[in-house]
Amino acid sequence: MKQQELGQGLSVSAVGLGCMGLSHAYGQPVAEAEGVALIRKAVELGCTFFDTAECYGTSEAPHENEVLVGKALAPYRDQVVIGTKFGLSFDLEDGKVNHDLVPDARPETIRRSVDGSLQRLGTDYIDIYYQHRQDPRVPVEVVAEVMADLIREGKIRAWGLSEVGENVVRRAHAVCPVAVVQNRYSMMARWYESLFPTLEELGVGLVAFSPLANGLLSGAYRDTSSFSQDGSDYRTVMPQFAPEALAQNERLLALVEEVAAVHDATPSQISLAWMICKKPWIVPIPGTRKVARLRENLGAASIELTAAEVAAIDEALNGMTMSSVFGGSAVKKAS
Ligand SMILES: NC(=O)c1ccc[n+]([C@@H]2O[C@H](COP(=O)([O-])OP(=O)(O)OC[C@H]3O[C@@H](n4cnc5c(N)ncnc54)[C@H](OP(=O)(O)O)[C@@H]3O)[C@@H](O)[C@H]2O)c1
Repeated sequence: MKQQELGQGLSVSAVGLGCMGLSHAYGQPVAEAEGVALIRKAVELGCTFFDTAECYGTSEAPHENEVLVGKALAPYRDQVVIGTKFGLSFDLEDGKVNHDLVPDARPETIRRSVDGSLQRLGTDYIDIYYQHRQDPRVPVEVVAEVMADLIREGKIRAWGLSEVGENVVRRAHAVCPVAVVQNRYSMMARWYESLFPTLEELGVGLVAFSPLANGLLSGAYRDTSSFSQDGSDYRTVMPQFAPEALAQNERLLALVEEVAAVHDATPSQISLAWMICKKPWIVPIPGTRKVARLRENLGAASIELTAAEVAAIDEALNGMTMSSVFGGSAVKKAS
């Protein structure tokens, strides 16, 4: 599969696999054997980049996703790049579908977290260790110092930041070079494009999370009726799946379908190829529970859109009417 270059010499498959939805936010977790089989199928299909986090799980098993990913990738450990995240938990008792986020990036918490993640992943090093969200109590410089220590100790190879803008990236990078920023990025969520010149200047890669706008860009969903209604599926409360969004997103879906037809591809593939072909340092990490969709999404790596085609899509998206898109759960104030 085509490779993309993140920062600090990290080379990964042009499409990665976001593993969150196997254990968190997209219905009840999948059975372990099913999740292991899906992740191993991704490796077989040429995917070398896997994303998880300390906090992906349920109230019964809050760190379940790391355990799953570690188990699945154990036979391939030296062939894959594993990213996991620290510094965040969910308020699982708040009664909300999309739980509030509770940041904690105090150095002592990070040190406990890294050892827990290494143990659950069944590995002695993490390839990319991300700060999941900023903690207003802890300056990013302090976090960067801890990352420098963890790199020296061999516990992590590189580090990254999630949901950050230019100021935080520059401050962090000045203390300990940042390899990757992981931000929300899709045709519906383009607000971080203003960060691209900074990433390019500093040699920092972008890992695009929710690159399919949580599935909307596949065109496979007309409403929320196929989502679990037991309070375990965030998509039931996402604005892009609300009844009024259907009409608002007609032009957007028509655009991806038109480009897909030209390339004998699917709307999901075009949504991913658009960002892969935009910059050689952008890597989407779509999530899925289904092998057919995994194959489809990884297939986006073989679609070549020219610079003119990417620019034409951008031009069409600029100012296009579309619904709001889920922007993440609220961050709770630290007590
Ligand atoms: N850093 C952060 O704060 C953060 C936040 C959110 C997510 N993430 C990471 O980013 C990864 C991806 O984000 P995401 O899962 O939120 O959003 P996404 O990849 O944009 O969308 C995933 C959803 O789309 C559906 N889907 C995937 N491929 C499809 C296809 N080809 N056709 C139709 N439907 C398809 C999946 O359903 P099925 O499973 O039914 O296929 C799933 O519901 C996560 O797994 C996680 O690792 C990071």
